[in-house]
Amino acid sequence: MSYKHSDYMHWAKTQSRARFNLATSGVGPFPLRELPSLPELEINGDNSYGYGPLKEAIAARHGVDPDCVVTAAGTSMANYLAFATLLEPGDEVLIEHPTYGLLVDALQYVGAEVRRFARREENGYAIEVDEVRRAITPKTRLIVVTNLHNPTGVLTPESTLRELGALGLRVLVDEVYLDAVYENTPRTSFHLGPQFVVTSSLTKIYGVSGLRCGWVLAEADLARAMWRLNDLFAATPVHPSELLSVTVLQNLAIPRERFRKIVEADRTVLAEFLERESGVSAAKSEFGTTCFLHLLHGGVEEFLETLRAERDTSAVPGRFFEMPNHFRIGMGVNSEMFAEGMRRLSLHLRDHVQ
Ligand SMILES: Cc1ncc(COP(=O)(O)O)c(C=O)c1O
Repeated sequence: MSYKHSDYMHWAKTQSRARFNLATSGVGPFPLRELPSLPELEINGDNSYGYGPLKEAIAARHGVDPDCVVTAAGTSMANYLAFATLLEPGDEVLIEHPTYGLLVDALQYVGAEVRRFARREENGYAIEVDEVRRAITPKTRLIVVTNLHNPTGVLTPESTLRELGALGLRVLVDEVYLDAVYENTPRTSFHLGPQFVVTSSLTKIYGVSGLRCGWVLAEADLARAMWRLNDLFAATPVHPSELLSVTVLQNLAIPRERFRKIVEADRTVLAEFLERESGVSAAKSEFGTTCFLHLLHGGVEEFLETLRAERDTSAVPGRFFEMPNHFRIGMGVNSEMFAEGMRRLSLHLRDHVQ
């Protein structure tokens, strides 16, 4: 069996749009004109193995050595580079269920044997380390989690990540949503030990997806191996994007605060929705830009198809998270749109679910 595509990504690119788009995962677009200054742009630069100032800016932000930073086109390419460097075909990988589907797709593409451990709704989607421990076999090479968790937005505390790290395997933590913890933002789990490999980007919480500024944090030898593997793919980064990414990193508080207001307003609307609606349940998270809803009666596919056709409102079907009775909604794009989308979702729940 070969895995050379992602059903979710194709759906997201071709079928997720609606006037009231709740099928988002990150914040809205940050306009270039809101940066206080622009860098002197140039087309080519000294970036064979990444642009020094960009690696330094990412390293400084996380308090790590620049030799541990591998820049990549988004968290997507960062995850792929990490998997392809760490794994051989047939290696077993343990990944949370539910999770971001592209992680599973990329693991299968590199030939990994994908095994799962459950994050249970009744347990607030927490990582249960004993469950992970029980799933380990002699062939297991890697544990993969998202923090914040996609789809639920649940934060895994550092104490749990430490316990995962003590299982004797490498742990990859996709932290692309972590900065949506706006107060006491946790430090990257890269600091928890050399077995931790972290991926992230500026795409989801800062609204600059178009720059594709992503990275891996890994111990220096491993980082070097990823750069060498990257020679087969992207080979050399896009320099104008590197220059702009440095400027965004120098002004990170501006997009962060801009979108924080929207995310927080949307979360208030979400809390009121969850309070009044009995047709859905959800693990409540104080953080993040997504919420995973359990539709308690009726089929999700039909519910979402009619929601889009009749009310111009979209959300992500749970089948993309291997949980077909659920669906995911996103916050942080536009508060008026979110409030109206949630109002339409309420109306639809009333009409379609007894
Ligand atoms: C957990 C997770 N990782 C990675 C990505 C891809 O991010 P990027 O746009 O930085 O490639 C997403 C996108 O939704 C995601 O949810």
